[in-house]
Amino acid sequence: MKERIKSLLTREPSSEIITAEGWVRTKRDSKNVCFLEINDGSCLKGLQAVIDKASFNNNNLLDSISTGAAVSVKGTIVESLGGNQKVELAVTSLVLVGPCPNDYPLQKKRHTVEFLREQAYLRPRTNLFGAVTRVRNTMAYAVHQFFQENGFVYVNTPLITASDCEGAGEQFQVTTLDLQNVPKKEDGSVDYSKDFFGKIANLTVSGQLEGETYAMAMKNIYTFGPTFRAEESNTSRHLAEFWMIEPEMAFCDLEGDMDCAESFLKYIFKAVLEKNSEDMAFFEQFVLKGLTETLESVVSTPFEHMTYTEAIKHLEKHNEKFEFPVEWGSDIASEHERYLTEVIAKRPVIVTDYPKEIKSFYMKQNDDGKTVRGMDILAPRLGEIIGGSERESDYDKLKARMDELKMDDTNYWWYMNLRRYGTAPHSGFGLGFERAVRYVTGVENIRDVIPYPRAVGYCEY
Ligand code: 4AD
Ligand code: MG
Repeated sequence: MKERIKSLLTREPSSEIITAEGWVRTKRDSKNVCFLEINDGSCLKGLQAVIDKASFNNNNLLDSISTGAAVSVKGTIVESLGGNQKVELAVTSLVLVGPCPNDYPLQKKRHTVEFLREQAYLRPRTNLFGAVTRVRNTMAYAVHQFFQENGFVYVNTPLITASDCEGAGEQFQVTTLDLQNVPKKEDGSVDYSKDFFGKIANLTVSGQLEGETYAMAMKNIYTFGPTFRAEESNTSRHLAEFWMIEPEMAFCDLEGDMDCAESFLKYIFKAVLEKNSEDMAFFEQFVLKGLTETLESVVSTPFEHMTYTEAIKHLEKHNEKFEFPVEWGSDIASEHERYLTEVIAKRPVIVTDYPKEIKSFYMKQNDDGKTVRGMDILAPRLGEIIGGSERESDYDKLKARMDELKMDDTNYWWYMNLRRYGTAPHSGFGLGFERAVRYVTGVENIRDVIPYPRAVGYCEY
């Protein structure tokens, strides 16, 4: 494997000829020397390639190199005289692999994130998106590490489903029917028996239901894959396509679930603090002051716990501050989540035991008949980052709730049967991966922590 710039930068000066490949970030030219900063995405810093024009003797080639060009340079690692780097490359030969004309959209000045979103195919070549990409990678790897180290089995749940996990009707339909000429039944309704799957199918909003079936065999499982929601929320925290991590544990109650979620979040945050200090310093300087300190404190302090009822009591005292005042039964909106975490607890908060009306059908019902064993983890500046629950493992109670919600149980027979064949308490949660990346990097808009964002009215590339 070829050595990357991150590793080259740690080398000591020597006479060995080495090769570096990458894209020119900047070029500085003087009468006698030309400096190229070459970046290959392996780290924030580039390798400074120094070309002594007299001995290089090919000014035409140098003139044709500009920002954005792909180059391959050979030379020796020498001590750098400039203050910005320890070592640099004294170039002996250079190949212009891919020239770059000067209509290249990424010029040296700082671009806005909105402009860069339009240039999403090039934005990983900027410092900001390079850093986000590396941090996202660290977090994805840490997700697998955490679960693998703790004996969880990675399960791939389907992306096309016939069930609606969250029951919110926010699904994208998958069809091959000709929309100009939809087959109809005698009563005028759509004849889905003529559709590809012979019935209505949708993109999944969550792998949980299928994940539960595997947990009831493998005990501890996790999924990590894309999920889709046709939510008409045009906000900085909603995507129509996002990645979710969903562990599911059998013989586990809500307490075990919350413990797992807290350890998991701390583990992936810690991984970034340990592996991406250069990127974190960049975010600290250009994106959000105090970011590293906040993350360190999140990693080292226990999360606050409160029930929904307690949370509402806290919030009600400050109702005059909210656009939407709360009372028992209200959904906790973003403004309330922030107030709870930023003003009241000053750290992440796990809220439990929500009214059943505002949570999904599958959550375990408490004996009070009013609340369910759901939990959300709320984080300062972000709001909800994790949603989870203990699942209803009693067949009759699940069936009664589904009937109450007038759910059509034809697509859930297998899910219900899981409660007949060796049922056991089980629990799980879902982490929105982009929400987590956004939290760690401080990046304001969720559209800037996924390579190609999809959101209501937005599907570029
Ligand atoms: O709270 P949610 O809807 O929970 C579930 O889907 C459960 N099935 C999870 C489980 O128990 N296995 O979604 C889980 C998380 C949210 O807390 C949030 O972080 C993220 O997914 N999320 C979104 N992220 C980006 N864009 C959206 N539109 C999101 N909707 C949810
Ligand atoms: Mg939720």
